[in-house]
Amino acid sequence: MFTIRQAGNGEADWLQASFDERMGWTKPPGYFATLLERQARDEVTLLLALDESSYLGHCNVVWRSAYAGFRDRSIPETQDLNVRPDFRRRGIGSALLDEAEQRIAERAEFAGIGFGLYADYGAAQRLYIKRGYVPDGRGLHYGAHPAVAGETYRVDDDLVLYLVKRLGNL
Ligand SMILES: CC(C)(COP(=O)(O)OP(=O)(O)OC[C@H]1O[C@@H](n2cnc3c(N)ncnc32)[C@H](O)[C@@H]1OP(=O)(O)O)[C@@H](O)C(=O)NCCC(=O)NCCS
Repeated sequence: MFTIRQAGNGEADWLQASFDERMGWTKPPGYFATLLERQARDEVTLLLALDESSYLGHCNVVWRSAYAGFRDRSIPETQDLNVRPDFRRRGIGSALLDEAEQRIAERAEFAGIGFGLYADYGAAQRLYIKRGYVPDGRGLHYGAHPAVAGETYRVDDDLVLYLVKRLGNL
């Protein structure tokens, strides 16, 4: 069993330590502290998945996306969905997205999300499509910029396809 809840002020240190210990890679120092500062300004909502008091995963709802395709249409963006490798395929990622979408539905008609195009994002690609997210129609982006036909881009975390989901039926 696990629970989903919003992170509280003062949780940055244990979240940072848990992520860095459990996820198999590390976040830059101060990552969660910055998120919680942004949450205090209602820029972001940081959602946690917990087993008793252990960290299992998290995602962020960014209320004003840095991606113009979402920002210009007032579409909040769910970012940084991560589940601990040893707890995957148990519905935790889905439960985090359920909660994110519920919260977004209180403020907006559409939810936005993006994924990278190489195999590390394969699980996310399948998960988002199965949940009803569809490409936003603006094509690939590299960083903040639309990818241009005929140009060459490096396949890395900056090469992203953005998707949207209408939340009317939640
Ligand atoms: C993407 C991620 C958050 C999914 O978390 P999860 O808790 O394992 O997801 P769920 O258990 O809710 O999976 C729901 C469905 O997604 C699909 N799915 C999830 N992982 C999958 C995988 N490795 N391969 C194929 N399908 C997968 C399946 O349809 C799955 O349902 P099923 O288990 O009944 O078949 C997790 O794999 C992860 O942290 N990946 C690394 C970080 C990442 O890529 N984040 C997304 C950034 S865009």
